Amino acid sequence: MRVIAIDGPAGAGKSTIARALATRLKLQYLDTGAMYRAVTCAALQRNISVEDRELVAELARELILEVQRDNVLIDGVDVTAAIRTPEITAAVSAVAANSGVRAEMRARQRAWAVARGGGVIEGRDIGSVVFPDAELKLYLTASPRTRAQRRVAEFGGDVDEIEQAIAARDHFDSNRADSPLTTADGSIVVDTTGLGIDEVLAKIEALL
Ligand code: DC
Repeated sequence: MRVIAIDGPAGAGKSTIARALATRLKLQYLDTGAMYRAVTCAALQRNISVEDRELVAELARELILEVQRDNVLIDGVDVTAAIRTPEITAAVSAVAANSGVRAEMRARQRAWAVARGGGVIEGRDIGSVVFPDAELKLYLTASPRTRAQRRVAEFGGDVDEIEQAIAARDHFDSNRADSPLTTADGSIVVDTTGLGIDEVLAKIEALL
C-alpha cells in the first residue's frame, strides 16, 4: 500500500497540492477534512447539537458517507457545497474533537486506503495517527497572512477576519486532547509561503 500523508493547518495549500500529487502519482485522493465537515453537516441537518458527543458519534457510525475526488455525498445526497459554508466551518472543530467520531473516521480512512492500494490523503492526523508508516509524511504550512489571502482568493471575504478565524481554528485543532495537529511525528515540514504550486510539487517530488 502506497500512502502519502499530507497534514497541516487550514489554508496551507494541502488540497491543491494533494490533488496534483495524486494525479502525478496515479493515486487516488482523499480529503479527510471533508469527512468531519460531512458529519457536522448531517448533525446540523438533523438538529443534533455538535456538543452532544454521544449522539454525534452514533450519527457518524451510521452515516453512509462517500467522499469522492470532487464530490461529497451523505446518504446519497450531494453536500459538496453545503459542507463549505461558514456555519459548518464554525461548528466542525467540536465534531473533530469528538473521540467517538474520530475513531469511526480513522477506521473508514484506513478501509478506504486498503481498498485502493493507498492514496494521497490529507488532514491533520494522517501522518501522526492514521498512517504513521506512510511512505512520505508531509506537514504543509504557510504564514497565517498567506493562508488567509489564499482563502479570500478562493472564497472571498475580509482578509483580517479570516486570518483571525484561521488562527482560532488552528489553536483549537492543535490543543485538543485527541490527535491534535502536530509536527512531532517525523513529518517533513514544507513552508509554502511565497511558493507557487509547481515549486511546492517540485520540492515534494525531490523528497519522493
Ligand atoms: O481541512 P478542513 O478545514 O476541511 O478540516 C475541517 C476540520 O476538520 C478542521 O477543524 C480540522 C478537522 N480535521 C481533523 O481534525 N482531522 C483531519 N484528519 C482532517 C480535518
